[in-house]
Amino acid sequence: MGRIPQNFIDDLVARADIVEVINARVPLKKKGREYSACCPFHNEKTPSFTVSETKQFYHCFGCGAHGTAIGFLMEYEHLDFVDAVEALAAEYHIEVPREESPHASGKPDIDKQPLYDVLEQAAVLYQQQLRTSDRAIGYLKQRGLSGEIAQRYRMGYAPDSWSFLADSLGKTKTGIKHLLAAGLLIEKAPDRYYDRFRDRIMFPILDQRGRVIGFGGRILDQGEPKYLNSPETAVFHKGLELYGMYEARLAVRQLERICIVEGYMDVVALAQNGIEYAVASLGTATTGEQIQKTFRSVREIIFCYDGDNAGRKAAWRALENTLPILRDGMIARFLLMPEGEDPDTLVRKEGNDRFEQRLENATPLSDFLFEHLQQEYDITSSEGKASLAERARPLFAKMPNSILRELLLNKLARLIDIDVQRLDTPTSRISHTSRSAASPQPDTTQKGPGELRVCIALLLQHPPLATLLELPAEFRESEINGVPLLFDIYRTIIDKPTISGQAILERWRDKKELPILEKLSFLDIPGTGKSDIREQLYFETTSRLISRLRYETKYEILQAKVEAGGMNVLSKEELEEYRELVSGNRRTTHVDSEQG
Ligand code: CTP
Ligand code: MN
Repeated sequence: MGRIPQNFIDDLVARADIVEVINARVPLKKKGREYSACCPFHNEKTPSFTVSETKQFYHCFGCGAHGTAIGFLMEYEHLDFVDAVEALAAEYHIEVPREESPHASGKPDIDKQPLYDVLEQAAVLYQQQLRTSDRAIGYLKQRGLSGEIAQRYRMGYAPDSWSFLADSLGKTKTGIKHLLAAGLLIEKAPDRYYDRFRDRIMFPILDQRGRVIGFGGRILDQGEPKYLNSPETAVFHKGLELYGMYEARLAVRQLERICIVEGYMDVVALAQNGIEYAVASLGTATTGEQIQKTFRSVREIIFCYDGDNAGRKAAWRALENTLPILRDGMIARFLLMPEGEDPDTLVRKEGNDRFEQRLENATPLSDFLFEHLQQEYDITSSEGKASLAERARPLFAKMPNSILRELLLNKLARLIDIDVQRLDTPTSRISHTSRSAASPQPDTTQKGPGELRVCIALLLQHPPLATLLELPAEFRESEINGVPLLFDIYRTIIDKPTISGQAILERWRDKKELPILEKLSFLDIPGTGKSDIREQLYFETTSRLISRLRYETKYEILQAKVEAGGMNVLSKEELEEYRELVSGNRRTTHVDSEQG
């Protein structure tokens, strides 16, 4: 599918009324010229969430949430940008046009709808089969699951047959083709197929919109493999989805935390016991993308893994994948099950209250990190301390600049009794930040256009991106070439969220930056035809830029002090910091030095 024309989005936003859109979901009260309500994005008792009819913008004075009607739908309904545009258009009974452009990677987008259809039909058939199989029902009962929970998770049963799906959904050639593409059939020889899932309890995996995109299937008795999953298909990407996320969002009105567990059964057993916010990765390690996606809907994740070696390893991997994403205000905690238990067995043994209590007491990421490091190294010896520092360095290098990072660094420095500057050299940061686990193609820190140019280009090409992240006001004063320009463009969009890229260029009509902006508005950034990749890229690039510029700003402040009064006006700490910064010589963010 081609991209949605910008002018359609402009028109749509102009036509939609943000008050109507929000009022349908969060009842608003008129208060003078604006409307208000208790903010749906954070807990509060007195309303600080306001909606302006004239500005067509919402803003919360409590938590800072703000944006357009589309932004609201994205946040509130947890949609990506394109889905939000489609949802908004549907409310006004408008069809969303697509540009005929084989843009971006040049790969023709195969039509995914038939896959969604066939997967949905299969899920319905499996559910029907469950109702008629005493054996399957018996199995679920014996595992403590009620019919209600089985229904909520749309659990099913794939009968013991080589051709159940082929017989029911594969009567035509296209039927077979779609079943194959959806991963439900396996081709054993040309024109000879059999069902992938046989005699298994079926767990349908749903995407953010509740569409079936794949299945996990568990064998009823003993046997190998215990679990079988759909293969990767055009609609199913294991590293991006989490089992149970859609169900959790439906069940819990205001999700505040998510518990990531290892197994499908853990998710449903927890739900059965009233803990309705558990999700599971799909038989693989929890990826940075999954963690990042989860943090878009909640501020707290509790990783809840088995207490065995594999669980411990999984937890550590999860920690490593969390660090590059973790910003102040996000909370990650860890809960390892006692030996021999998993969340399923434990919650059934202990019940809701005691399990919730364990969740309440889960170990904060910082403690988990240090406990793990201290277990690995003997810090009573200097050698042990040095090895620990070496081990910790790349972990910190991955983290965005944050208060948490600083606190952790200080803690580490105290623990091994060395100066914190030794742990956090600018060079170690610069060489590692680009390798964030979650960063999508393209890696903007390698050759190619610099980060600042990517940010500006993305904003010009997709102005609504500006609402993803608040840029600090210091940007306006920055001496670094291009940064005030980025900030001005950002401000322009925040002030007039419906503005098109063209209209932004118009504002620079008589200014010297116009040629650069024109160039950037046509800059081809691979992959960004897709809204989620584009959002992720913008989010990551701007946040990286923010942390980098904070660093640079510090250099400038110190530099100015030195120029005015010489080295001895600096405090001891400032002096060390200044030396580090000078030797790091990391002034790499200029817009025009990167012009080809
Ligand atoms: N898994 C898999 N393939 C396997 C085994 C496991 O994909 N052969 C994945 C599944 O997603 C499963 C998760 O790993 O849900 C956890 O596996 P495991 O701990 O073995 O199973 P449980 O979830 O405890 O399942 P059960 O309680 O049904 O034995
Ligand atoms: Mn289990």
